Amino acid sequence: MSNVKLAIVYYSSTGTNYTVAKEAQKAAEEAGAEVRLRKAPELAPDEAIDSNPAWRKHIDETSDIEEATNDDLEWADAIIFGSPTRFGNVAAQIKQVIDSAGPLWMEGKLLNKVVSGFTSAQNPNGGQESTLLAMYNSFHHWGAIVVSPAYSDPKLFESGGNPYGTSITAGGDIPDEKLQAIRIQTNRVLEVASKFTEAYSDA
Ligand SMILES: Cc1cc2nc3c(=O)[nH]c(=O)nc-3n(C[C@H](O)[C@H](O)[C@H](O)COP(=O)(O)O)c2cc1C
Repeated sequence: MSNVKLAIVYYSSTGTNYTVAKEAQKAAEEAGAEVRLRKAPELAPDEAIDSNPAWRKHIDETSDIEEATNDDLEWADAIIFGSPTRFGNVAAQIKQVIDSAGPLWMEGKLLNKVVSGFTSAQNPNGGQESTLLAMYNSFHHWGAIVVSPAYSDPKLFESGGNPYGTSITAGGDIPDEKLQAIRIQTNRVLEVASKFTEAYSDA
């Protein structure tokens, strides 16, 4: 049973990253972790959201999910971030969560957090890897421990083999092997975080 406190912080306009975040939540809860599923606060104006019915529908359907706060980041032993790809980069909504963590960073409260990420893009080569690497840049500043899935399980190879994090091609049902990839990634994050948690409690 995992003793890890895991925050899953995602942003999603049309549901892809939400579905992946829910799968990560399920895997972590099955492993016994304490989980907070949190969405990044929306930054886009209603006008933009209303121009895309799928976006409006998703926002309305997930209105009950709590927004991420610095308290969630401080509470967590491990954090998995999920962001759609935006021009090969992290979505502004997730970047806002990261940037808002400045006060925690100043107090050293993000040191040794175990972190990982997943993403989606419309095209199979639309920038998933650059999005994850851009996301991880900030985590190095935090002094967090980036745990990527790598090829830690042969099934990850079959799922497209992105060693940086689970990556989805958006725009349809998410294939089972991709859901399996986020489950493997989540369990790896919990395993590493658990070892750190034990090490700190012994210290
Ligand atoms: C401003 C903007 C920039 C985008 N940039 C890219 C991109 O660089 N490559 C790509 O393949 N898809 C791009 N997309 C498509 C999104 O990545 C896609 O809609 C998203 O992964 C869907 O995730 P969601 O359902 O969780 O919102 C972009 C979409 C928007 C709105």
